Amino acid sequence: MFFEPAKNDHGMPFNPIKACVVPRPIGWITTMDSDGLVNAAPFSFFNILSYNPPYVIFSSGGHAEDHQDKDTAANARATGEFVYNMATWDQREEMNQSGLIVDRTLDELAETGLETLPSKLVAPPRIKGSPVHLECKVFKIIDLPGDTRLASHSAVIGEVIGAHIVDEAITEDGIFDVASLKPLSRLGYKDYAWTDPSVVFQMEKRTPEDLVGKPSQAAE
Ligand SMILES: Cc1cc2nc3c(=O)[nH]c(=O)nc-3n(C[C@H](O)[C@H](O)[C@H](O)COP(=O)(O)O)c2cc1C
Repeated sequence: MFFEPAKNDHGMPFNPIKACVVPRPIGWITTMDSDGLVNAAPFSFFNILSYNPPYVIFSSGGHAEDHQDKDTAANARATGEFVYNMATWDQREEMNQSGLIVDRTLDELAETGLETLPSKLVAPPRIKGSPVHLECKVFKIIDLPGDTRLASHSAVIGEVIGAHIVDEAITEDGIFDVASLKPLSRLGYKDYAWTDPSVVFQMEKRTPEDLVGKPSQAAE
């Protein structure tokens, strides 16, 4: 099948577009407003963009009540800081619950019974129990126009200035065994996945030397 998103002519009961890019990592983002109120929410429009230095991005739509920026994007705009917390199987319920709270005056972490750890280089705290935290400074916010203000997105790019990894996930060989943490990801619709270590596999990187004398492969 083929459809044009602008025409929404897929003929299916639900728009399948989010199921077309999977799995999407979940950026569980903590921010703080100018008065120090902490906010936490999950974003599956999330990814890492580079590594030296590392930049990450999350994209936030409009707030359900007033269609303006959601708290996370508003706080990132106002303060220039956010923290990525890795969402794992163990904290799936809390992560989900933190995404359901829309009241701008509530601290989602307190509401979901989550505890925090102080960050080292930015003001927003880290979520205790999450095994990876990336402390970020906002680099740029790109406003993506939507059909409505609610559908408009603020794509927030942050430079990672501090990275925490739980020691237990670092092997004796010095490898970060991320699959052992069961990181969560989002598929389409209401579907989620976690990374099962038993299905992880390796492939060797091919070098230019591998391709010498193999024109058919070189043309791939
Ligand atoms: C797994 C998951 C992923 C989500 N991803 C996004 C997303 O990428 N962008 C977005 O705008 N909302 C997303 N949401 C919804 C927000 O988390 C939700 O609107 C939340 O209340 C926003 O909180 P805030 O207003 O405190 O920023 C997601 C929710 C869940 C449960």
